[in-house]
Amino acid sequence: MTHDPDAPFEIEEIAPQLRAMPKVELHLHLEGGAPPTFIRGLAREKNVDLREIFTEDGGYAYRDFEHFLSVYEAACSVLTGPEEFYRLVRAVLAESASHGVVYSETFLSPDFCGKCDLSAWREYLAAIEEAATEAERDDGITLRGIVTCIRHFGPDQAKKSAMCAAETAGDFITGFGMAGAEDMGEQKDFVWSFDAAREAGLRLTSHAGEWRGPEEVRAAIRDLGVERIGHGVRGSTDAQLVEDIAEAGITLECCPGSNVFLGVSGSLADHPIAQLRSKGVNVTVSTDDPPFFHTDMNAEFLNLAKTFRWDVDVFRELNQNALAAAFCDEPTRTRIAKELETA
Ligand code: HPA
Ligand code: ZN
Repeated sequence: MTHDPDAPFEIEEIAPQLRAMPKVELHLHLEGGAPPTFIRGLAREKNVDLREIFTEDGGYAYRDFEHFLSVYEAACSVLTGPEEFYRLVRAVLAESASHGVVYSETFLSPDFCGKCDLSAWREYLAAIEEAATEAERDDGITLRGIVTCIRHFGPDQAKKSAMCAAETAGDFITGFGMAGAEDMGEQKDFVWSFDAAREAGLRLTSHAGEWRGPEEVRAAIRDLGVERIGHGVRGSTDAQLVEDIAEAGITLECCPGSNVFLGVSGSLADHPIAQLRSKGVNVTVSTDDPPFFHTDMNAEFLNLAKTFRWDVDVFRELNQNALAAAFCDEPTRTRIAKELETA
């Protein structure tokens, strides 16, 4: 339901409901959720000079997407062991929960957790799961992990990530995906990794159509067999693709604030999420790397409501889309569905 375009729309009338609404988030890079104060604190503890990745007022400093990826990796350099990841998960989930998120899927990268060594990865994962269990108890937020290979590290390194994913697939690690620089290589270069993950019972997603166009989104679906697409928004210019995605029930993990901040979309009003939704595509809303893009789930919901004059029912629908596409087991889905209903 969308408001009559001529009727006055007062965001403050629905803002309290949107802030209080329990939310489901599917696309969050764990390390990209690290508050800058957290990374600065670790750098100080470890005597690492990271001043060049921060602005004077304490935010992350980068010029463009390529530079963002290198600043991101520099920030990860102080996440040196399982204990740091335990603290990171507690910090990120407390922040998400404060914006109403009750279920979160985050991308976890064995590349940043012991350089894809399987026994090291198991130790990092144990710390991450311990933090997730405590956050569920203390902050009322449930976490599931999507192991993610990094495209610009290349297909051979991705295989190591996929093996870590396959060896630890289960109730907590439920998916496999790909992030990183979309202008490097092709989706099909990663078929081996995605096949291995699928054979281990993992559900699949890949970043595509954040920077490249419709053919990249087609390639992720055709070559890797993913059921969700990270972003996908640059596929919106191809009407046939949009129809195919809607028909196939592929879910788009849209991150509007990220897209506007990085210049993928000129403005939120230009963002294709509303058009995709009107064509029957399963769209969802996430923050991607919230402190890097100066966003959070409340900001995303409020900005979308203001820009597209969406009412509370639209946001209920977006949460339902996300929960339906979540890579969790059915008892978890049922439990979260009850939390969404009773709120
Ligand atoms: N896009 C692609 N790769 C990434 C991102 C992102 O926003 N964040 C961390 N890795
Ligand atoms: Zn992303």
